Amino acid sequence: MNQPFSGFSKLSKEEKINWIAEAYFSTPEQAVSLLKKYWNSDPKIQKLHDEFIENTITNFYIPLGVAPNFLINGKYSTIPMAIEESSVVAAASKAAKFWSTRGGFKTTVINTEKIGQVHFIYQGDVSKLELFFAQTKSKFFADTENITTNMQKRGGGILDIELRDKTNLIDNYYQLHATFETKDSMGANFINSCLEQFANTLKRESQNFELFSETEKDIQVIMSILSNYVPNCIVRAEVSCPVDELEEKHIQNPHDFAERFVQAVQIAEVEPYRAVTHNKGIMNGIDAVIIATGNDFRAVEAGVHAYAARSGQYSSLSHAKIENGIFSFWLEVPLALGTVGGLTSLHPLVKLSLEMLENPSAGELMQFVAVAGLAQNFAALRSLTTSGIQEGHMKMHLNNMLNQLEATDDESLQVRKHFKHHVVSHSGVVNFVENLRK
Ligand code: MEV
Repeated sequence: MNQPFSGFSKLSKEEKINWIAEAYFSTPEQAVSLLKKYWNSDPKIQKLHDEFIENTITNFYIPLGVAPNFLINGKYSTIPMAIEESSVVAAASKAAKFWSTRGGFKTTVINTEKIGQVHFIYQGDVSKLELFFAQTKSKFFADTENITTNMQKRGGGILDIELRDKTNLIDNYYQLHATFETKDSMGANFINSCLEQFANTLKRESQNFELFSETEKDIQVIMSILSNYVPNCIVRAEVSCPVDELEEKHIQNPHDFAERFVQAVQIAEVEPYRAVTHNKGIMNGIDAVIIATGNDFRAVEAGVHAYAARSGQYSSLSHAKIENGIFSFWLEVPLALGTVGGLTSLHPLVKLSLEMLENPSAGELMQFVAVAGLAQNFAALRSLTTSGIQEGHMKMHLNNMLNQLEATDDESLQVRKHFKHHVVSHSGVVNFVENLRK
């Protein structure tokens, strides 16, 4: 295609599909048929999904799995995980089972503050701006009352608004830096609506402030938007037990294991190349629960990685130590989540996932998510510091390879039997299947 298509969004879904099929596919009928195969048979459900985004042509499946046996603060839960990567759910389940007999996971919500900013340019005397802000601060609260009333009834609202001088970074650049409590909602719409009102109040009130010169009155609001960096919206998850109790089938020398494990975490604390992969493993657990519960994984990813780099060097989100014969492993992550609003009340599988978690508050969901991250990290480090990651991973990946090779049930059975006792590799499986087919 070498020219733009104007009016694409106005086409019906069928027309969009037909156009794409004709424009990009050598066998358009096959493309159309595949796209339609993934439509939901219930037109109501399909319509719901069509309307989540724009220009929807079909649904893109990822599996929803569950990891049972999570003992968290003394109570068992089953955690829903939406993810395409094999072995993540198995790893979470194994880690859950392992810790369920060693005291389980302990979690604490440390704080739940969200942040939003109005970025603006003011050319003038800083002390006058400070005086202006001190005298008009209450108006910012008063002007947003119609937006905040409901949130206040639920115990949330605007916590504070500060004027921040950022002129050391960019000439004449200032911010209204506001903090919010949004209770069980992620709060993006609430925060952005408050911020846009702050911007209007700022512009209006500056016109009425007698000490401002004409130039000073001409405040330029550049943008008003929440921040996905939430270093004061933190949850902690931890596990601990006497080192001797770490012993199990794959951990025959628990002291050696604990030391290697702590060293692996220390490496991720000081070495960014390792830290990124280490944290990626944590995000395998975190994102899977975030997606299953209809939260915004891009927001969480951006915020978590900024937090991991808060010292100026990207580092591990988790930490481990051995002290007085006790092994402890924990993480603290920033998670701005919601269990009401957004997709949580729209997507049927999100509702189901939340019900599986017994309809948690946002704070409770933060705890499930952090636990999934810690469990994932524990499972990855346990494999990495003992047998290596490939043994378990390739076993889990076997199904994908069999599907790729279009193996019959009988072939699959024989492959599984053989590779129970042999190292799984892509070429090994291909050769084995080829031999069976000879
Ligand atoms: C793979 O998805 C995640 C791991 O690489 C994480 C890690 O190395 O800690 C196994």
